[in-house]
Amino acid sequence: MAPAVALLVAAGRGERLGSGAPYGDGARPKAFVTLAGKPMLQWSVDALTAVAEIERIVVALPAGEQAPAGTIGVPGGAVRSASVRAALAAAGDDCERVIVHDAARPLAPPDLFERVLHELDAGEGCDAAIAAAPVTDTVKQVADDGRTVLRTLDRSTLWAVQTPQAFRRAALERALDVDEQLLAAATDDAWLIERAGGRVRVVPAGADNLKVTTPLDLSVAERLLAR
Ligand code: CTP
Ligand code: MG
Repeated sequence: MAPAVALLVAAGRGERLGSGAPYGDGARPKAFVTLAGKPMLQWSVDALTAVAEIERIVVALPAGEQAPAGTIGVPGGAVRSASVRAALAAAGDDCERVIVHDAARPLAPPDLFERVLHELDAGEGCDAAIAAAPVTDTVKQVADDGRTVLRTLDRSTLWAVQTPQAFRRAALERALDVDEQLLAAATDDAWLIERAGGRVRVVPAGADNLKVTTPLDLSVAERLLAR
């Protein structure tokens, strides 16, 4: 298997988690909050380290934080995709496959990283392969007034997108080569590939690969990791 490089984005502040959460870390950035005995981002570093195909890990960091042992740290950007771009610039040019992962998803298992890499290789002309889970809630579109239901979307076609996301390096570089406004509008990097006409495939993942956004998510992740 050709090697791959992993970009772990950890430069966010965690504003929705808040600094008042009862986890003892005060105002630490979210990725550095202690979770089941270690900093949140260390769970992802450990999972990525267990994947044989991953040659190196580049971490986009918030100001004043150190890179975990065995990783390469770079200062993150002002928005998420700018952090991805900064990490990619420090990734070296020997790996043709790149995995992007949010430090805010500490429950991603090693085999999920392997599965997105293998889907990338298996899909004919595939530019990206992304972890996603079928939507279980009924999803409705609501008007700008925040009350009026406009329509109900066909749930059978909806997938909730996660990370990890695996990319052909050249496709990711091209996708990230956009102005700051588009970069800021991207909630995931695969969207930047889609809008450029690239081919993106989903890889079924468990809903337990949750993103820690709020204090509730943090307490659920704590329980799942402490099992
Ligand atoms: N991220 C990043 N650089 C940024 C913003 C976000 O590297 N400028 C990372 C976060 O560290 C996180 C991932 O992108 O691992 C997903 O972002 P999100 O869950 O929104 O985390 P935060 O931006 O930290 O949280 P919030 O939006 O509540 O402040
Ligand atoms: Mg954010």
